[in-house]
Amino acid sequence: MTPAKRRGVFIAIEGPDGAGKSTQAAMLAERIEREARLRVVRVREPGGTPTGERVREVLLDPKLAAMCPWTELLLYMASRAQLVEEVIRPALAAGHAVVSDRFLLSSVVYQGYAGAIGPRPVLTLARAAFKDCLPDLTVVVDVPAAEGLSRSSRRRRGARGGKADRVEAKGLAYAEKVRAGFLDAAKRRLAGRSVILDGRAPAGEVAEDIWHEVRRVL
Ligand code: TYD
Repeated sequence: MTPAKRRGVFIAIEGPDGAGKSTQAAMLAERIEREARLRVVRVREPGGTPTGERVREVLLDPKLAAMCPWTELLLYMASRAQLVEEVIRPALAAGHAVVSDRFLLSSVVYQGYAGAIGPRPVLTLARAAFKDCLPDLTVVVDVPAAEGLSRSSRRRRGARGGKADRVEAKGLAYAEKVRAGFLDAAKRRLAGRSVILDGRAPAGEVAEDIWHEVRRVL
């Protein structure tokens, strides 16, 4: 079966934990609908399909802290392959915009750089599984590691009565590696066309910066 022709536009919002990605993804989706008059399909990673949400529970369970980087990578890729097949590819074929809260660059960074697998195997897997379905633009919302960490633990204290998830439990040195990984991978365009934006400004200003970049690919 030949895949349906791609007509829509695919934007991924990336960055370290606590950078404000989810807020920005929501604001961007609303703006694309309003100003570009496209229907927007929002997805989040890991998850976004029934299979993917089950995989997400396993990945984020603090009881499974001993999971090795390869297992993690393959689970993230499994969730992503399902999301591409079930949601993203059909949406693009129908001419919709897709806004994804995280995508391939997260695996390149968290499993590839920070998990010491290196970026290449991650990109090889992606090429094999969904190379025809990469973002037209990946936006990295960048914040210093310490700031991201404190923002996301504050948010979780509110939401979960104090429990850190598995990623947060790894601490500041890990968060520094993650941030450096995002900057390097985006500069080298490892997951395709990418821009890095400063996420420390008020949300409205960051949203303007994102819009400035996104409108060029619409
Ligand atoms: P996140 O978007 O932060 O979810 P939430 O806002 O609900 O906490 O994603 C959860 C974690 O998953 C995050 O710390 C990064 C990690 N992650 C990877 O390690 N690799 C990946 O490929 C993806 C998509 C996420």
